[in-house]
Formats: sequence, C-alpha cells, structure tokens
Amino acid sequence: MILLALESSCDETSAAVIRDSRVLANTISSQIALHAEYGGVVPELATREHLRNLGPATRSALEAAGITISQVDAVAATRGPGLPSALLVGLKAGQALAYSIRKPFLGINHHEAHLYSPWISGDPPVGDFSEFQPSVSLIVSGGHTLLVHVKNELDHEVLGSTVDDAAGECFDKVGKLIGLPYPAGPEIDRLSARGNPSAYDFPRPMLHEPNDDFSFAGLKTSVRYFLQKHPALFESEQCLRDVCASAQAAIVEVLVKKTIRAANRLGVTCVTGSGGVICNSALRRDLQIACNKAGIKLQLAVRKFSTDNAAMIGIVAERKLLAGAAPTPLDEDIDPGWSL
Ligand code: KG4
Ligand code: ZN
Repeated sequence: MILLALESSCDETSAAVIRDSRVLANTISSQIALHAEYGGVVPELATREHLRNLGPATRSALEAAGITISQVDAVAATRGPGLPSALLVGLKAGQALAYSIRKPFLGINHHEAHLYSPWISGDPPVGDFSEFQPSVSLIVSGGHTLLVHVKNELDHEVLGSTVDDAAGECFDKVGKLIGLPYPAGPEIDRLSARGNPSAYDFPRPMLHEPNDDFSFAGLKTSVRYFLQKHPALFESEQCLRDVCASAQAAIVEVLVKKTIRAANRLGVTCVTGSGGVICNSALRRDLQIACNKAGIKLQLAVRKFSTDNAAMIGIVAERKLLAGAAPTPLDEDIDPGWSL
C-alpha cells in the first residue's frame, strides 16, 4: 500500500509518502523564520504559508519517493487538533486529492500520530513495531503537554495534560524574558549546557499533585519576578546561562518524574516521547537515566520526527487502514479541538 500524507496543523507544512511502514519521503517546509519576527505563530500568516507551500511540498515528496499520484492507494491528512485555518488547508487538499484519484481518505488525530513517531527510525526510516509494548507516552511541544497510556496499538487513554502553558511554551516565554528569539527552546538547551542547573531554585509545579497533569505558567511567572528583582543578572552572561539551566532543570524534573511515576503506577515497562521539546538534551538524558533506574525501556522519537511531520500522519493512517478503519467522508470538516 502506498500512502500520501499531509500535515498542516501549526507552522510546518509537510508531505510524506509511506509504503509498507517505510517512509519513502518526508518533506517539511518550516515557517519558524517567518513567525520569529512576531514572537510566536501568527495563524493567518501560517495559513497563507501552508497555501503557498503545500503544493510544492507534495510534489517534492512524490518525486523523492519516485512515484506518481496515480500510484497512491490512500491519502491522509491531519484533521485536528490545531489552528483551524491551518488545518483546513491540509485537510481540504487531502480530500480533494483523494477524490481526484478515487482513493480512500483518512483524517488523522495529530496527537495519535505523535504516539507513533517514536517508532519511526533508521535510514531509510522504518516503522518498527516489533518491539511495540504497552507504554506511557509523553507528547511535549509548543502547544501541548500530554501523558498518554498506550495500552496497545490504536488503543490509548489520556492520563493528563497541561492545565495552562505547554512545556515548549514555557521554554519560549522564559527565553523571551531573557531576550532570546522565538522559538527559544533550542537556545535555552544550548546555553544551559554551560550553566548551573542548581544556581536558582525555581518551582516544580504540580510535581507532588496526585494526578498526571502539568502546569507551567507559574514557573514562567516566577522566572519573570526573579529577573525583575535581580536586574543585574542581565549584565552577566554566566548568570543568564544559570537562569536558563535552572529553569530547564525545573521543567525537565517535572516531566521526567511525572512520566516515570505514571509508568510505574500502570506497570508498563516502556516509555516513549515525541514533540519538539523531546529534542531537549537534558530531557533526553534524564529520561534515559530515570528509565534505566526503573528498568523501563525508553523509545524517543529521533530528532527529525520529533517535531511536526507528515510521516507520522502516514504511519498511523496505514496502521488504521490495515486494521480495517473506515475512510473519513470527503466532506468531513476539521476538528481543531479534537482530543485524543
Ligand atoms: O513540536 P513542535 O515543533 O511544534 C509545535 O509546538 O507544534 O515544538 C516546538 C516547540 C517550541 O516551543 C520549541 O521551543 C521547543 O519545541 N523545542 C525545544 C527544543 N527544540 C524545540 N525546547 C527545549 N529544548 C529543545 N532542544
Ligand atoms: Zn505536534
């Protein structure tokens, strides 16, 4: 089966071609530079960029995979959650393409696709489900922070999510406070490598609450008040690196401890992770250390499949079609608030 997948839920326009769990092509056109000027994603601009880039991204994915549109057996696109107008571009393009080649169409939940991205690896990338196990999956991005119990393929339950800001949003807002450009996560990661994570004691929100939810808005506010109270810190590069490392340590500790606690409680022996923040080196390192200690297998998305991409949409669509899922009607609308 050859599947063409499209993703346009936020600020990456992506098209992928999947055949038998292999990613033949995965083209991503990122809008980061465009939105950096505004300090965050501007939905209207994102939509225009998707309109401009989806055609070329799709053509180049097909070309890279060495196939023509007439060879495609099914089309998939993200249906939600995401920015409404951005979703509309990919969903309607996917439905139109499927209609034009008289092939089935599948609307995919973006978060369900993230659950599959840790299983895409290798070069060329293969969806290796041979080691697939019941797991606790951490999805951490600029828009979402979710803990999910994956009981089996296509069978999952959300355990908790953020009650305010997402973890990536917290990285970006803390970065803004110290003058870093958007998105600040990668730069905080880099600066933290030469900073002291114990220099300043920022709060670990909801760490001891008896649930699997997160909250990061208070942590960002605490960094803001701290910087307001100590303006001299801005004059020392080392102090700013220490602020980055200390804020990062707070975010990472909460994510790691709550993930491992959920895994232990549920008795699963596998933890997976995806989303842009999974690229964070301290998070990857500390998850690995905690999993080793707890005897848990850790399966993190490789960096190129951590952030939004159409390959993960295609992989989950293929699994669904193989499991006998019914196609999504061609007039089905977007579902911007679609929960997992
Ligand atoms: O999944 P993603 O590409 O897009 C969506 O949010 O949909 O995630 C982007 C987020 C941004 O908040 C960015 O700052 C964060 O992931 N991020 C990181 C790192 N790389 C990306 N945060 C911390 N450390 C990183 N290395
Ligand atoms: Zn995402």
